[in-house]
Amino acid sequence: MKINSKIKNYSVEMIDNLLERKDKIFSSLRYRRLFYLVDENFFSIYEKKIKEFIGEDFFYVIPATEQNKSYFKLADYYRVLVGNNFMRSDILVTFGGGILQDISGFIASTLYRGIKWIFFPTTLLAQADSCIGSKTSINFEDSKNLIGTFYPPDFIYIDSGFCRTLTEDYFNSGLGEIIKFHLMSDSKGYTLLKEYLSSSDLRDEGLLKKIILLTLGIKRSYFESDEFDSGRRNLLNYGHCFGHALESASNFKVCHGEAVIVGMGFANLLSLKRGIITKEKYDEFERIFRKHYPRFDLSTISVDALIGYLKRDKKRIGQDLTMILCEDIGKQIKADDIKESEIKDTFKEFAAKYKEN
Ligand SMILES: NC(=O)c1ccc[n+]([C@@H]2O[C@H](COP(=O)([O-])OP(=O)(O)OC[C@H]3O[C@@H](n4cnc5c(N)ncnc54)[C@H](O)[C@@H]3O)[C@@H](O)[C@H]2O)c1
Repeated sequence: MKINSKIKNYSVEMIDNLLERKDKIFSSLRYRRLFYLVDENFFSIYEKKIKEFIGEDFFYVIPATEQNKSYFKLADYYRVLVGNNFMRSDILVTFGGGILQDISGFIASTLYRGIKWIFFPTTLLAQADSCIGSKTSINFEDSKNLIGTFYPPDFIYIDSGFCRTLTEDYFNSGLGEIIKFHLMSDSKGYTLLKEYLSSSDLRDEGLLKKIILLTLGIKRSYFESDEFDSGRRNLLNYGHCFGHALESASNFKVCHGEAVIVGMGFANLLSLKRGIITKEKYDEFERIFRKHYPRFDLSTISVDALIGYLKRDKKRIGQDLTMILCEDIGKQIKADDIKESEIKDTFKEFAAKYKEN
């Protein structure tokens, strides 16, 4: 898949047994040395093969935590690369999910004002969503993704087989984004989503490859004409306004894509209360979300904390709160006039329904 970008065009390729295909990936590239940043859990699961893959090149293992994606940790990463003599003729190579991607992307866009970067996404969320779209994000104090740049990798290679070893929560997190994108596509996309979700092995590599490519195609259709997120791309925040607030208010106990599923459920309930979505559609989408809501006790979350985080949403433009509402498949609407009282009423109802889960 080719992606057009105002920064640099790049490509995504599906590849089986990536850890045995180093030659295919690097043989046509010119470089001095490779510098790898590797997710710690991924490294420990695939240690033998990844060490063979890396060979004599430099590598640095990073635990995938939101704390390690923070502004205050950046100095460590620059120090490691510069201290090991990273040069402009070298390539940064990343194995990991969205956290390693965000760290690497930010480093790649700023070190020497931009270096070459190859990304091997290892989580479903990174494979089906975050790997394309050019965003790099860094946390600042307790604000998530406050600092960032637009800087895509030069190449992305996806081995869907890596998803076999993901925990249930993180697999479900990737599914959250897959569901969101297909609800933002069209009736054909929605049917394909339902077919996929009804299969007995959601981690089947063939099925995953297909759904990942479909999802990336939907995402591309939203951002290629609005890479810098000033219009249509904003709609991709469906489920994210409430989802980000929930992630923060839960102290990141709920993982990103799972929070997005809850966020879509909340946005849909608000849409129902505003008369934007029909009860029939609402129930239909809720049946899908309900199967994938995280095992998390919403009653531990205070609505005031959620509202505090919603007020800090980057997409907010006025006094009121912002949320992407849903009318139907492919019909999401940005609402900038959500009142705090509406959030409070909807949350009360939502939390009560959620308990029935
Ligand atoms: N830049 C973007 O466009 C963008 C988009 C969406 C999300 N994000 C960011 O991505 C992050 C979430 O990413 P994520 O969901 O990929 O999570 P993650 O990077 O935190 O990884 C999830 C967990 O899976 C482990 N892991 C990684 N690969 C594995 C594998 N193959 N087998 C077993 N375990 C594995 C990690 O160690 C970690 O514990 C958030 O910080 C979010 O803000 C960025």
